[in-house]
Parts: sequence; C-alpha cells; structure tokens
Amino acid sequence: MATERRNPTLLSLIVLSLLSIASAKVFFEERFTDGWESRWVKSDWKKDENMAGEWNYTSGKWHGDADDKGIQTSEDYRFYAISAEYPEFSNKDTTLVFQFSVKHEQKLDCGGGYMKLLSSGIDQKKFGGDTPYSIMFGPDICGYSTKKVHAILTYNETNRLIKKDVPCETDQLTHVYTFILRPDATYSILIDNVEKQTGSLYSDWDLLPPKEIKDPEAKKPEDWDDKEYIPDPEDTKPEGYDDIPKEIPDPDAKKPEDWDDEEDGEWTAPTMANPEYKGPWKQKKIKNPNYKGKWKAPMTANPDFKDDPDIYVYPSLKYVGIELWQVKSGTLFDNVLICDDPEYATKLAEETWGKHKDAEKTAFDEAEKKNEAEESKDDPVDSDAEDADEDANVDDDDDVDDAHDDDTAHDEL
Ligand SMILES: *[C@@H]1O[C@H](CO)[C@@H](O)[C@H](O)[C@H]1NC(C)=O
Ligand SMILES: *[C@@H]1O[C@H](CO)[C@@H](O)[C@H](O)[C@H]1NC(C)=O
Repeated sequence: MATERRNPTLLSLIVLSLLSIASAKVFFEERFTDGWESRWVKSDWKKDENMAGEWNYTSGKWHGDADDKGIQTSEDYRFYAISAEYPEFSNKDTTLVFQFSVKHEQKLDCGGGYMKLLSSGIDQKKFGGDTPYSIMFGPDICGYSTKKVHAILTYNETNRLIKKDVPCETDQLTHVYTFILRPDATYSILIDNVEKQTGSLYSDWDLLPPKEIKDPEAKKPEDWDDKEYIPDPEDTKPEGYDDIPKEIPDPDAKKPEDWDDEEDGEWTAPTMANPEYKGPWKQKKIKNPNYKGKWKAPMTANPDFKDDPDIYVYPSLKYVGIELWQVKSGTLFDNVLICDDPEYATKLAEETWGKHKDAEKTAFDEAEKKNEAEESKDDPVDSDAEDADEDANVDDDDDVDDAHDDDTAHDEL
C-alpha cells in the first residue's frame, strides 16, 4: 500500500525535524496561549494622559483558526507599550533570530507594526517611546511614502537605521517578519520565510566609521587635465567677421512721396536685421585628447576606524516589547520567537502562519464580500455622511502623522 511505503520516509522526516528542533536554543517563545497576561507587562506609559490603548486578546475578524489568538491594538489614536521578560542572554558567538507575525486588519494608513529587543536595566512598567532598546525590527507604514521594514540597531548608544530599503507587506493579512543576526556580522531579513534582504552590518548600517576614506593628503597632479572639451585651435575667426553689422538699412524701403526734407528732416531708411550677421564669433569646441577624467583622491585606510569584532553583540538581552503609536487600531501580533536557529524559526512560521494562511485569505475575502454587500445596501444619505466623516479624519491624521514622524525622528537619533 502506498501509505505503508511512505511511512518510513515520513518517520525519518519527523525524527530529523525533532533532532534539529532539539538542537535549537529558544530564548523566548510566545504563542499567546492562555496565561499570556502573566508573562507580559502592560506599561503605564501615557496612562495619565488617557492615551494608552487597550490590547484585545483575539484571533481577529478573519483568521485560519479561531483558537489561535494574539494581541491586537483595539483603540484608535493611542500609544501602546507592552513587554515580556526572558532569562538574560548574550548573542556572542551565536546566531540571533527574532521573529513574529503581524496582521494589520485595519488597512493601516499610519502606524508601526514593529517590535523591540531590550536589554537589562529597564523598568517594564515605564516602558515607552524613550526607553532605550537594542534592536527595533518590523513593518512601519505612514501615508504613501513610508512602507518599509525597520531594522534599527543600537550601537554605542546610538540608534542606526538600515541603509537599504526593505519594503513591507501592506495588505490586511498575517505576515511573518524574521531578523537573523549572525556572529560573522551578517544579517538577513525574511518576510513569510522568504529572504528579502541580506548583507553585512559593516556596509548596511553606519555603526563604525568607514574603513577607508579619501586620502586627505592626496593632491591633484599639476599636469592632470580634467577639461573634457577645449577650443578647437584650427578654428579661427574669419577676416572681417566683426565688421558685419547687426542691422542694415532696409533696401526695400523707399522715401515716401510726400516726404518734405525741409519740414520732416533728412529721410533715412528704417533698419532691419542683417541676414549676414551670425552673432559674436565663438571658437568651436572639440574633445580634449589629453582629458584624463575627473580627478579623484585615492582611498586610504581611515585612522579613525577601529574594528569591533563584537559589532553584532548585545551582551544582556532580557526583554521583548511592542511600543507603538497607532492612528487606526487593528494590528495583531502573534508567535513571537527569539532563538538561535533559523530553521526552527522557519518551522514555527510554517506551523502557524503557513498552516492557516489559505483559510485566513478565504475568511478575509468572505468578510470583504459581506462588507461590500452591506455598503451597497446603505442609502445614499448614509454614505454621504460617511464620506464627510472620513474627510474629517484625514485632517486629524495630518497632526498625528507629525507625531509619528517625531517618534521616528527620535528613533533615528
Ligand atoms: C476584539 O476583537 C474581536 C474580533 O475582532 C471583536 O469582535 C471585539 O469587538 C474586540 N473587542 C474589543 C474590546 O475591541
Ligand atoms: C561612541 O560614541 C562617542 C560619543 O558620540 C564617540 O566619541 C565614540 O567615538 C564612539 N565610538 C565608536 C566606536 O563609534
């Protein structure tokens, strides 16, 4: 029977995957099952201003499995800050994998969907926008211009943004974001288990001064010819060129018959543009045969560069947190993972997002259809009122965009 023949292969696959899972070191894993509230600390940040948003423990409006819940922002125009602790560790000599899934059910127009890794020495109750963090990673959307994956590394107490552009997902479905940091100072960014960007900490962030700089001592050699074009020595001004007048008397003009020299003065013909006149003489230009190109100073070792073999090391990682500003709520986080094994992370993503993504898409499409049907039932008066409402919101958004920008600016400091 086919099943019998397949069984041994299946079994060995299971054994293999158990082995590789067994070898993974998991520093933190949160699937938001029962009891999650005892593992996460809601910050008091922005509470006294009544600007702290509530989290909703839910699988959302559309999902592949109603029992697979996460935490979702549930109030518009609110700040969110929540964090969880894990046993302190250093990623020295180990690969660091940071992964989570996020779903923006609200058609996010301005807000973050990122998470942070923080080091020891913070007060979880006071966790907020100003709390120093080690790594900030995940999608950020604001208006049409910002639709990217943030990957901010804190080095020497300075937050540095990745210099490469990594676009994020913008639909209303669940996506898995993975950041991998390796001991050879390389990194990868994955979305839904597909690598979107990879490279080196040295080249893709400005963490250290550049290894090489333009030699400040170098000078352009005196005989360096950097003129691309020169006047053509063969081209000389034709004799008499400057004597050609710009204007000449109109040869067709005639003195009017009733012109009276005595009364009207001496008649002179009106002038006209001289067709022979070609403007001031200009020598033709030719390509310079001695052109050497633009001079560039040669590169030389930067005396300010001091390599740091621990450039990738965060010696005391201890917390994972979400700290966000949201204009429109509805962002749902789930399946947070910090481990040392990219394969384990891939498997977790497959078991969660991968297993449910098709059913989630179907549920989303159905919800959209239902929405459209309901909207078309509405009478025109109602939909006008809704439009007016939305216009009012657009104005509000502008103010809030600014706040968001400020926050981002802060992150870039
Ligand atoms: C939580 O989410 C569910 C599913 O989307 C929704 O029905 C419920 O109203 C939400 N609760 C709050 C307090 O936002
Ligand atoms: C760390 O920051 C300080 C202060 O900005 C600076 O003087 C120092 O050169 C920096 N060190 C490195 C290794 O970048």
